[in-house]
Amino acid sequence: MAPSAAAGSGPLVAIYPGSFDPVTNGHLDLIRRGAKLADRLIVAVLNNTSKQPLFSVEERTGMLREATAGLDGVEVDSFDGLLVDFAERRGARAIVRGLRGISDYETERDMALLNGRLRPGLETIFLLAGEEWRFLSSRMVKEVVKLGGDVSGLVPGVVWRRLKSI
Ligand code: PNS
Repeated sequence: MAPSAAAGSGPLVAIYPGSFDPVTNGHLDLIRRGAKLADRLIVAVLNNTSKQPLFSVEERTGMLREATAGLDGVEVDSFDGLLVDFAERRGARAIVRGLRGISDYETERDMALLNGRLRPGLETIFLLAGEEWRFLSSRMVKEVVKLGGDVSGLVPGVVWRRLKSI
């Protein structure tokens, strides 16, 4: 069996996975910061058929591509199935995840431990969510928009334009 990329060295490819339904300014802040740590940061949208997303995976990747255009070393992709398998296919040695606060911690810890068990050597790097964005989630953005609120300062321009047209 070929050695796992997770155990290797060389340029650091990291994956920032998520639902991104839709991408928020909090995600974008983490993408910018993660891109400074890794040689290549792959923002990976989960093609999740069990959740009922507001946007299709094509729409989510499209908005992410527009929002991250011009950021060096950042690529947008999507995946099905296990994150660790996608990481292996893309030669990634690390997963990047954001922590907004204590309420995120236990779930994120369990995911990191599980992923490390499934693919030994695959590390999860936690970045604290930017202070400005600690309260922010895609779920809240969708709720505010549904009730007629303005989220223009909370999401990239491309997302706000799209949300207004729904
Ligand atoms: O933005 P989210 O919804 O918090 O992201 C969750 C995500 C996509 C990182 C997680 O659900 C995931 O990795 N799903 C892929 C399936 C998988 O690998 N599950 C086992 C580890 S949790």
